[in-house]
Amino acid sequence: MAKPKYTSHVGMVDILPDESPKWRALENIIHEEAARFNFEEIRTPIMEQTELIVRGIGQLTDIVSKEIFAFEKGDSHYVLRPELTAPVVRSYVEHHLDQRGGSQKLYYIGPMFRAEKPQKGRQRQFHQFGVEVIGSDDPVADVETIAFMMRIYERIGIKNFELKLNSVGDPESREAYKAALRDHLKPNLHKLSEISQNRFEKNPMRILDSKEAEDQEFIKNAPVIQDYLNEETAEHFEKVTAYLEDLEISYTIDPHLVRGMDYYTRTAFELTSPDLGSQDALAGGGRYDLLVEEIGGQPTPAVGFAAGMERLLIACEELNIELTAEKSVDVYFVTLGDSARSFAVTHLPKLREAGISATMDYMSRSMKAQMKDANRENARYTLIIGDNELNEGKFTLRNMKESEENSLTFDEILKKLR
Ligand code: HAM
Repeated sequence: MAKPKYTSHVGMVDILPDESPKWRALENIIHEEAARFNFEEIRTPIMEQTELIVRGIGQLTDIVSKEIFAFEKGDSHYVLRPELTAPVVRSYVEHHLDQRGGSQKLYYIGPMFRAEKPQKGRQRQFHQFGVEVIGSDDPVADVETIAFMMRIYERIGIKNFELKLNSVGDPESREAYKAALRDHLKPNLHKLSEISQNRFEKNPMRILDSKEAEDQEFIKNAPVIQDYLNEETAEHFEKVTAYLEDLEISYTIDPHLVRGMDYYTRTAFELTSPDLGSQDALAGGGRYDLLVEEIGGQPTPAVGFAAGMERLLIACEELNIELTAEKSVDVYFVTLGDSARSFAVTHLPKLREAGISATMDYMSRSMKAQMKDANRENARYTLIIGDNELNEGKFTLRNMKESEENSLTFDEILKKLR
């Protein structure tokens, strides 16, 4: 085949008609389960102000320093949203959603943009679904958030995963921990990777997340944050783990789990799957009790997660999980001649109104080609319409699977298929 003149950008993919049914099935599951949890949907713009994203996620994070798609128009600085926590918080503050009363239990589905090097499970435009619960510091909110995340995978049948959990502390515990971590790393600072050396002053906890070989030996013996949590933070973490145990959700505590955004406080978690290869994170999230204030709102605790939808679909493929029934249409109108085509155009809606899916050939093809097309579309029935049929007022309805034919009036057909 000839090379196309235009292609989509690298890392930005089309979801083609053969794939869209599984996306829709996944979206339906998310909407249904969200309704069961009483989460409400929020939809925010694809573009946000650069400063919101920089402040929200953190200047020194990989996302902001390397992966942002940013541009200017006039005096405005835009970014394509790389995630939705900061935008949802922006919307919460801007529209005073706190005044609706109680905590806001929000969920979303949509595309995000990060200029990462594309590979399996990593795209530049990808999709997330997620939840943000804003206004509660109760460990119940943490656990309901995690339970919703787990419920989606459970319902789909993905069971092979690991839930990693950590507390990244509140500001007080974190200062104490950072000091201990710096003390531990300082004597060998010059032996650490360059990225880790850069993180040493401003964000030493991110060093724990380093994949660089030369860092591993120093990370291995580093002090763990659990030993530096103050009483309140330790108690919060204990309650989260106790509820998870009550719900029989298994987890492992990973003291090196720090996550890629600066907004996290206290609970942090990640769901990984061995079926995904190197990009193994299905989903991640945690508390961000300081972000609402950082973005200009009242001090308001919050917790949430987001999950990669492409990665979920990759896991389904690896596990041979079919998210949709095969594509099919109930009735394919096979038309012979102009009168037949007019009849079809005006009678297709009658079937559709009755909840029966129906289509016809749009290309004035031969009967043979239309029958072939009906097979390709996996039609349950074909309805053959020619001049004779129109004169008699009776049409041949063919059951394609059982190769059985009936000559019926249109009303009889409607009755039979309804
Ligand atoms: P995140 O860990 O950056 O968290 O992203 C969540 C999930 O999005 C990842 O676990 C992964 O499945 C998917 N993902 C991330 N980058 C890509 C990519 N380039 N290609 C494909 N999938 C990707 C957040 O975004 C936070 N906002 C989560 C959160 C919500 N925390 C609190 N509330």
